[in-house]
Amino acid sequence: MTNLPPPTVVPPADPKNVQGDITIGFAKRLETAIFFIVDDVDSFRKQLALLVPKITTADQVANDKDSIKKHKQSGGTDLLKISGLNIAFSQSGLTKLGITDDLGDAAFKEGQFTDAQNLGDKGSTSGGVFTPDWIPTFRSAVHGIIIIAGDSQTTIDERVAETTQIIHLAPKNGSCHQVLRLDGAVRPGDQKGHEHFGFLDGISNPAIEKIDVNPFPGQETVRQGIILLGRNGDPTTRPAWALDGSFLAFRYLFQLVPEFNDFLLHNAIPGLTPEEGAEFLGARLFGRWKSGAPLDLAPLKDDPVLAADPQRNNNFRYNFPEDPQTQDRCPFAAHVRKTNPRFDLEGLNPPASTEARRIVRRGIPFGPELSAQEQQQNTTLQGRGLLFRCYQSDITNGFQFVQHSWANNTAFPPQKPETPGFDAIIGQAADPTSRTITGADPKAQTTALPLPIEWVVPKGGEYFFSPSIPALKSTFGKV
Ligand code: HEM
Repeated sequence: MTNLPPPTVVPPADPKNVQGDITIGFAKRLETAIFFIVDDVDSFRKQLALLVPKITTADQVANDKDSIKKHKQSGGTDLLKISGLNIAFSQSGLTKLGITDDLGDAAFKEGQFTDAQNLGDKGSTSGGVFTPDWIPTFRSAVHGIIIIAGDSQTTIDERVAETTQIIHLAPKNGSCHQVLRLDGAVRPGDQKGHEHFGFLDGISNPAIEKIDVNPFPGQETVRQGIILLGRNGDPTTRPAWALDGSFLAFRYLFQLVPEFNDFLLHNAIPGLTPEEGAEFLGARLFGRWKSGAPLDLAPLKDDPVLAADPQRNNNFRYNFPEDPQTQDRCPFAAHVRKTNPRFDLEGLNPPASTEARRIVRRGIPFGPELSAQEQQQNTTLQGRGLLFRCYQSDITNGFQFVQHSWANNTAFPPQKPETPGFDAIIGQAADPTSRTITGADPKAQTTALPLPIEWVVPKGGEYFFSPSIPALKSTFGKV
């Protein structure tokens, strides 16, 4: 393995070298993920070399977002035709391609299937082997993922057709074949940007040093190496070609929306109308109102103006004088507090940093809107959820840690007067009926509220490595 030279001699990260979904994130209305298996290694490498010029870099995504901004400023209301294409490989994909260097991430190397039990996914054990309750595709090897984003179905279809043709995705010539295609879409109308439970998503991501140069108030800046391999802050020595790549954790998460809504109504916070009490409980479980307004700043009532203001909607730390020790404003186990505890760790003695745990999230919802029948029966009849993706330089420190050691850990955040309980949204228990959270009702903070089912159900996933453009040319593709 050729190790990286000392950081001082590595030239600064060039956005033309980084795949665009990592550091900036595609502008998208729709997004398709194609999971593939490589069949003919030589042919795949040859075709990949031809695909590399089509891959969307961070530089291009930044330009696209700039064009959208200018278009809107000049009164344009239609969508610009914009698309994005990225590619990433699993450990089994690297092995298939004959790339033997160790990328230095234990979770990536083992793959998510092996990690499923540790993440808390449900499954069965036979002969000492745990098999998660996942769809068959993710119970077998998947070599890679192609992500295609766009403004419309036409754009997606064109990009899929072009990519299929260039990479020789079977049935055309067959250097590789598709094992699964998942289609995600931004939700319609006023639910644009909201996930299926109805909460605005994609508000809080860390800024990356020297890339996101104007962070919003409260948005923490992380060193580049927290997201990009080989950069300052990356804890591990990597093969030289891994520079400016990133690990992608993909999760196929189903959401039981009518069941969640029914729970909120039946456990509505008292002293309000049932609808208001249900809305308040939902906000307490997430740590933000559906609008996106954070409970730490708007603890009693939604504030849509605050929610829509990026100068304010992330500017909080759970450090109001009374807050670190009470759940007056936000439950300790609310989803956003569990997954980014801010002052809950920074305020410890000695302070603990959250930097290494930060991830950049790029998910998109999938599946139809709720039907009238589902609403009437309070039962999910059609699959829907989140195609969750996040990037980091170290899965063990990032996604895996957040899911396993924070969301699933009832004692986190530490040193609180009441046991916080599970992350109310994604926390997974060995026995799902044992899930509880304290602080759901601000007036009865020590009372544990049972969360009878897990409303987020993982049905698969994999860990991938998203190489830089130079690595795709030198190490992956072959002319
Ligand atoms: C279906 C499953 C999920 C849903 C519905 C969901 C929903 C949300 C929502 C509505 C927010 C608030 C908006 C924002 O801050 O951007 C949020 C934030 C966040 N979520 Fe999730 N999420 C899900 C899965 C996950 C998973 C699997 C992880 C990681 C293990 C995760 C990590 C985070 C983080 C780090 C934040 C930002 C917290 C902050 O900085 O304040 N989420 N999520």
